[in-house]
Amino acid sequence: MAPADQPRLIVVADAEALARSAAERVMARISAGPGRIAICLTGGSSPKQLYQLLGTETYRTRIPWPRVHWFIGDERFVPDSDPLNNMNVARAAFLDRDAPPSNIHPIPTTTGGPDESAAAYARELQSFYGADRLDPSKPLFDLVLMGAGPDGHTASLFPGYPALEDTDRWVVGVPKANVAPFVPRVTLTLPVLASCREMLFEIEGAGKRPVLTRLLNNENLPAARARSNGETVWLVDKAALPEDFRGGR
Ligand code: 6PG
Repeated sequence: MAPADQPRLIVVADAEALARSAAERVMARISAGPGRIAICLTGGSSPKQLYQLLGTETYRTRIPWPRVHWFIGDERFVPDSDPLNNMNVARAAFLDRDAPPSNIHPIPTTTGGPDESAAAYARELQSFYGADRLDPSKPLFDLVLMGAGPDGHTASLFPGYPALEDTDRWVVGVPKANVAPFVPRVTLTLPVLASCREMLFEIEGAGKRPVLTRLLNNENLPAARARSNGETVWLVDKAALPEDFRGGR
């Protein structure tokens, strides 16, 4: 059995199975609590199939929309209508159709710069949470979705960037990304992302094999340092697994 501090590795056949498995985990987290549920979404291409699935009849009719709140773990500092905008992708795929507008919590990108935007989102998170300090016994999020970039980044926490070490602020501005798209970013910090019942990584496709190999080799990368205070799951498909991978985590 994997040690408790290691992520749980779940391997599925392919991209479709991965999206379905992620959707079922979203539903399980929603069903686990009777009250308000907070889900922190992610960007990039990895969650797109999941978002499409959550917009299908099978899932949208099962989601208790009035009690589910949707946040985003990082944002590209582009207008909210831009196709690069992470929340825009989730809105178009499934949120706009069913979620009450007040339950959608985008990172603002229309005024000031990334630092102002980060400060505004920190205030929004703190007001939702009801405190400006995180209590380990009271997770901010029920579920945090994550992806892993080619350089091992997750959210917009890039290797060697100061944002990665920030343990005071909830949200920070990142003036320049380490990978494309090279637009400024706004990202939640590691302790805030960790404040959840479950952190779920989606890692899919042969293109992710190099970074997954590094993560499985315990390299000190942001995506390996991002851990839930509860459960951390790496949901991967077979194509992303290193060829010689024998399991054993
Ligand atoms: C973003 C992200 C980022 C993403 C990884 C994986 O805004 O780009 O939130 O952390 O999850 O880069 O991206 P892909 O899914 O596109 O590989």
